[in-house]
Amino acid sequence: MSKPKVHHYEYDVVIVGAGGAGMRAAIEAGPHAKTAVISKLFPTRSHTGAAQGGMAAALGNVEEDSWEWHTFDTVKGGDYLVDQDAAEILAKESVQAVIDLENMGLPFNRTPDGKIDQRRFGGHTRDHGKAPVRRSCYAADRTGHMILQTLYQNCVKLGIEFYNEFYVLDLVMTKVDGEERPSAVVAYELATGELHVFQGKSIIFATGGFGKIFKTTSNAHTLTGDGVGIIWRKGLPLEDMEFYQFHPTGLAGLGILLSEAARGEGGILRNSTGERFMERYAPTIKDLAPRDMVARAMANEVREGRGAGPNKDYVLLDLTHLPPEVIDEKLPDITEFARTYLGVEPYTEPVPVFPTAHYAMGGIPTNVQAEVLRDNDTVVPGLYAAGECACVSVHGANRLGTNSLLDINVFGKRAGAAAVEYAKTAKHVPVPANAADEVISMIEKVRKSKGTEKVAVLRKELQDTMDKNAQVYRTEESLNEALDKIAELRERYENISVQDKGQRFNTDLLEAIELGFLLDLAEVLALTSRERRESRGAHLREDFLARDDEKFMVHSMAYLTDKPAKKPGDNIKVGWKPVIVTNYQPMERKY
Ligand code: FUM
Repeated sequence: MSKPKVHHYEYDVVIVGAGGAGMRAAIEAGPHAKTAVISKLFPTRSHTGAAQGGMAAALGNVEEDSWEWHTFDTVKGGDYLVDQDAAEILAKESVQAVIDLENMGLPFNRTPDGKIDQRRFGGHTRDHGKAPVRRSCYAADRTGHMILQTLYQNCVKLGIEFYNEFYVLDLVMTKVDGEERPSAVVAYELATGELHVFQGKSIIFATGGFGKIFKTTSNAHTLTGDGVGIIWRKGLPLEDMEFYQFHPTGLAGLGILLSEAARGEGGILRNSTGERFMERYAPTIKDLAPRDMVARAMANEVREGRGAGPNKDYVLLDLTHLPPEVIDEKLPDITEFARTYLGVEPYTEPVPVFPTAHYAMGGIPTNVQAEVLRDNDTVVPGLYAAGECACVSVHGANRLGTNSLLDINVFGKRAGAAAVEYAKTAKHVPVPANAADEVISMIEKVRKSKGTEKVAVLRKELQDTMDKNAQVYRTEESLNEALDKIAELRERYENISVQDKGQRFNTDLLEAIELGFLLDLAEVLALTSRERRESRGAHLREDFLARDDEKFMVHSMAYLTDKPAKKPGDNIKVGWKPVIVTNYQPMERKY
């Protein structure tokens, strides 16, 4: 088979990913620099569209609020692993972020006097935890969908150039003055199988998360962490990968997201006896405690035999006391999901729910300018990351609901602005003639393989082991079991083959490559989880139940080394980085 055709382009700013962060960056960069957005999906299919409940901002439209309370909640919600300078920026810039979207035409829900309405969400409180506060701006339960459509329309208005259904599979690093510098990305075009090398002075990764390492997840099939995996393979570090969020209310057995807005609007979690069990776990804010606490409480109810259903393996979300018109106006989509997928009528019946893998708090380390770091504090010039793929770190050990739509807007905008600023004076880093060779060999290896292993089988085994061993509860033993299994799957991955050997629309081939990224990221997650011998936020170690600020109030920084791995994970080095503390010393986390 002949080598695929390789096309070359030159841009000032190259953005990988067309979700909220990527498009927000494009809106900032596009008017000032020649900008390309490259996306494996058509932009309006990006996963931002699945975000439901809202975007936090201390507008104070319906209740007194302040950016300082928002910062405090974010820090406490993140179990004090949040970099507090970044959280301050997030909270302060939230108001402008909402105004920007409003000016772009986003149809937020309104109060009767025409202001942007706001609703309650877990962990968002007034005056440092005294009571829940209405902080999340929303558009029914399809806020992410509205943000995505609005950003796309504005990108189209600005004439941003999109390359859709182009899978970026490599970042080209070129040595300049003894230092590896990013020069281009290489993308595989789904429709033709041809390759495209995009040279950029500034390159922004905004590629989203990697929830597909788990079986039960709210994440779409496409969330395979390609961007994070590419950065990892380049020898750059990943930060806080052990912190993975399990959203409390996935539809039981399916994992489909049922927005926390349901509890924000007054929904109540009950166990099999009908008890409102969150009163025991978080007496002040109950069902509106942060997600890590609610998810753990739900799992605990099931463990202790108070689960509902024939197998006692879920709890119930009760909306039956809400007026049907409130359900229809504020929660139309999710109640329809309950009817469609579980055959449950939320007006009259409680909905079976259980935690679902939802969001990566960790990822590509950046500073508050969204510049990627090659170690604890050295910037990689010209390389940026924003959104779920990045770790800035505003979410610490546990993200508060509706802080992610905020994150993509605040840090997407910052990434776009910083990338333009850099591109104004930087020169293009030369791209080697053979820039696409690594991708060509990656593709040809899979395409030509006559191996006997199947991608879907390996992916399922990976997801099964991650659900069993690295989910809400973790131990040294379970994490070692996950690492052993991943090592076995890696060996078998060398022996995979795909049925479709063709060039056009070869999703079979791409799924095989995506599985490689999933295996890499699952391994980093399992290893950093093993090395963090404490419990904090979403990371619960049953063998180290206490939070250990003395030893572990630090970010993990994982690096891929070329050390031969005698034992699974041996080739990964884990270092630690201090948390930035401005105002809030760690306290016991009571709600
Ligand atoms: O529950 C939700 O609507 C999800 C929001 C989020 O992850 O921020």
